[in-house]
Amino acid sequence: MLERVSDLFRQSFGGEPAVITRAPGRIEFIGNHTDYNGGTVLGAAVDGGLWVAASPRRDARRRWRSAIGEAVVETGEALVKLEGESAWVNYPQGVMAAMQSHGLTLPAGFDYAVASDLPVGAGLSSSAAIELSSALAFLELTNQSVDRETLVKIGRQAENDFVGVPCGILDQGVSGFGRRDHLVFIDCRRPEFSTVPLPAGAHFWIFNTHTKHALVDGLYSARHAECMAAAADLGVEQLADASLELFYREQSRLSPTVAKRARHVLEEIDRVGQTIAALNAADLSALGRHLTASHRSSQHAFENSTPELDSLVDQLTTMAGVYGARLTGGGFGGAVMALTDGSFGEAYVKLADQVAEGYRSRWGAEAQVLHLLTDDGAEVIRAMPS
Ligand code: GLA
Repeated sequence: MLERVSDLFRQSFGGEPAVITRAPGRIEFIGNHTDYNGGTVLGAAVDGGLWVAASPRRDARRRWRSAIGEAVVETGEALVKLEGESAWVNYPQGVMAAMQSHGLTLPAGFDYAVASDLPVGAGLSSSAAIELSSALAFLELTNQSVDRETLVKIGRQAENDFVGVPCGILDQGVSGFGRRDHLVFIDCRRPEFSTVPLPAGAHFWIFNTHTKHALVDGLYSARHAECMAAAADLGVEQLADASLELFYREQSRLSPTVAKRARHVLEEIDRVGQTIAALNAADLSALGRHLTASHRSSQHAFENSTPELDSLVDQLTTMAGVYGARLTGGGFGGAVMALTDGSFGEAYVKLADQVAEGYRSRWGAEAQVLHLLTDDGAEVIRAMPS
């Protein structure tokens, strides 16, 4: 990837990039839609991500190039939201707006190229990866640094305030605090970040349906609004402030839909706690049960699954070597993550093919199969020469 992003930079602008950074994508392990409710969540940074190459310019021109698409986009000093094919520039521009609000200096003019080895549309959060790799690049270009918490906050703020998606801290937190062979645990209320070792012999597989609900952003916002309504109805500031006991006692006062959403979030937070206990005990079977229970709750209570995702979970959970499976990320399409033992991978051709074949015969379309490894969080690969 280092070569790929350097090549793209050279082709687009000529010369060597002064700065190179990378930030990983993430798997949501468990803790679905808990983050923006002040709950807890576990995720893993994966061995795919976004790489940014950049050099300062003497003038105030900002030139942007992505490996997807031919055109170099140019912007000036004002941070103006772009539309259409150039809309991806809103992520790094949003990062600049967030940096400004933190009192940081912005680089004036620069050339910027970005390349990705993260599968598109699998819900592995390329948006957080571009936010964090861009933030690190802009900080390098201006010889500034911030602590990890601030880096993560800047990424989320870019998405909330500039791009306009009311996401929580999960994606940016995992991309920032990821660690190889570990899960990242986030207590989103504070927020506070830590890592938990993954038991040996646990493997992640991703089955990407390449389907995405046309209204996915609207549906995400709608769930967000329903959760806020649930918190207000239960008389708490954030939904995570309500105990399960309070919810079970009061749920009949809530509209049936709002009650289902709240049940998912509160039981999911409880499952995150049980998952931590299973991790500490290295109990992979229990881990798998919690993952599948999380999916069933998405399917029936939060209603952010799809028939394609459900069919993959149904099939995977009957297979040898699979501990559990669930949709990963926001939902309404995207991918299923399965936690498996090593034998699943050894019999890869047979088992992964079997899943792909089952999917093909049911949906007449291909599911992309990926074996992902965990990786470290966002980092500077080439620092600005002093
Ligand atoms: C998306 C958002 C995250 C989180 C998940 C659902 O990935 O970006 O903040 O809300 O959905 O858990």
